Amino acid sequence: MDTNRRDFLKGTAWMGAAAALSGCMTAAKVCGSGTMSGFAAAPIRKVRTGFIGLGMRGPGAVHRFASIPGTEITALCDLYPERVQAQQKWLADNGKAKAPHEFSGEEGWKAMCELDLDLVYIATPWALHTPMALYAMEHGKHVAIEVPSAMTLEECWALVETAERTRRHCMQLENCCYGEVEMLTLNLARNGKFGELVHGEGAYIHDLRDLNYFDPAQGGYQGYWRLKWNNEHFGNPYPTHGLLPIMQAMNVNRGDRMDYLTCVSSKQIGMDAYAKIKFGEDSWQAKLHPRCGDMSTTVIRTVQGRTIMVQHDVTSARPYSRINLLSGTQGILSDYPLRLTFADKPGDGAHSWFDGAKTEEIREQYKHPLWKAAGELAQKVGGHGGMDFLMDLRLCYCLQNGLPLDMDVYDLATSCSICELSERSATNRGNSIDVPDFTRGAWETAAPLGIVTVDLNKLGAMDVTTDNSALNV
Ligand SMILES: NC(=O)c1ccc[n+]([C@@H]2O[C@H](COP(=O)([O-])OP(=O)(O)OC[C@H]3O[C@@H](n4cnc5c(N)ncnc54)[C@H](O)[C@@H]3O)[C@@H](O)[C@H]2O)c1
Repeated sequence: MDTNRRDFLKGTAWMGAAAALSGCMTAAKVCGSGTMSGFAAAPIRKVRTGFIGLGMRGPGAVHRFASIPGTEITALCDLYPERVQAQQKWLADNGKAKAPHEFSGEEGWKAMCELDLDLVYIATPWALHTPMALYAMEHGKHVAIEVPSAMTLEECWALVETAERTRRHCMQLENCCYGEVEMLTLNLARNGKFGELVHGEGAYIHDLRDLNYFDPAQGGYQGYWRLKWNNEHFGNPYPTHGLLPIMQAMNVNRGDRMDYLTCVSSKQIGMDAYAKIKFGEDSWQAKLHPRCGDMSTTVIRTVQGRTIMVQHDVTSARPYSRINLLSGTQGILSDYPLRLTFADKPGDGAHSWFDGAKTEEIREQYKHPLWKAAGELAQKVGGHGGMDFLMDLRLCYCLQNGLPLDMDVYDLATSCSICELSERSATNRGNSIDVPDFTRGAWETAAPLGIVTVDLNKLGAMDVTTDNSALNV
């Protein structure tokens, strides 16, 4: 099926209705359409940010932003007012004199997006990401959205078209692109250590059964949103952690692009077995029988002939892994545990992994400059070993200095399109399906992501007031 063809009538009617409902046409800063590849907005001296979603993930972002100079936590929003209050208290306890504006309830986020803000940071359940981001962009705000930022092709296209029309940044908060090993891998690739890249493997393998079934009233996912999604969908609903770092290394949307994919998913038995044992055979949990297979495997081929495998398994008793494998004509890196090897010169073989000492030597030698500049600080502030902080730091740094962001709306759309495309392929016996070119041809000339860092002097004195390393979520 040709997934590039847009249902323009449907899309236009939906967007028009949303705009009319919100009155956003008058408020929108429409500066003309065009590609967002390489887009940079005017520098913002103080990034005034509003946060929506203060559950397990959102508070860590608030705390990280509190450590970044040149930012202001201007507004806080959650369905539940007590979650907003908890963050107000945290900010007051940590020396922030100015209390942010507060919003709560089902639609409080709309009023928040209508404030005078620069950035809206969204950490809500998946189905709310795109409606919130569209509304924020229509009201002139840049948006940073948790993963996956969009769950359907329609949502991917709506984000692309709205970012292009409003000229607003629309970034997916893919923290794994800032992981120490992922950035090491990118640096090694840019230094030619793998030769020509051929294949990558990424994954989200994380036993989430406890969390998925954890009572929302006791601090589980709000309204069981993740369990509900797994209950109703097949394929890979969470592809971006393993995928986006590989896309960056392979220059997907910047010299290469995804061509087609195929996805095969296993049966689901892991969740049923867990629910039966934990809650009993007669429980609603045991009778649910979620659709999402335990293991989903997607294989993508790019137009330059590279392949990427992406897996999703949140229901098996297995140690955490994003796989993080990248290989080329001259070498390979694979994570969990970290292993690598390179040929000495083109044409030579590399038949065994380097030993631990050599691996550590290379890890140090090719440490990414961003990790060299701010890795220690990032580990102190915290968030998945520091990568969350480095992501937020780069986002704020780029906004403050008027630079293009590391991940644009096309990276968002391409990686998120896997949610629907994998489901369609997996429900159709793994038949192949085209991946849309969200850049509409700009991939041929867009510049690859460089080896980017931050000049901490351009952020002013760092203000790390609290060690948040315990805040990993
Ligand atoms: N990048 C990562 O490493 C990472 C890690 C964890 C979660 N996430 C992502 O973060 C997002 C949130 O996950 P979570 O674990 O915090 O879930 P959660 O259920 O704990 O939090 C979601 C929050 O959104 C709030 N919310 C729901 N409806 C709302 C509305 N209408 N208006 C305002 N707030 C509303 C809920 O009250 C809740 O506090 C998800 O997209 C998830 O995939 C990413």
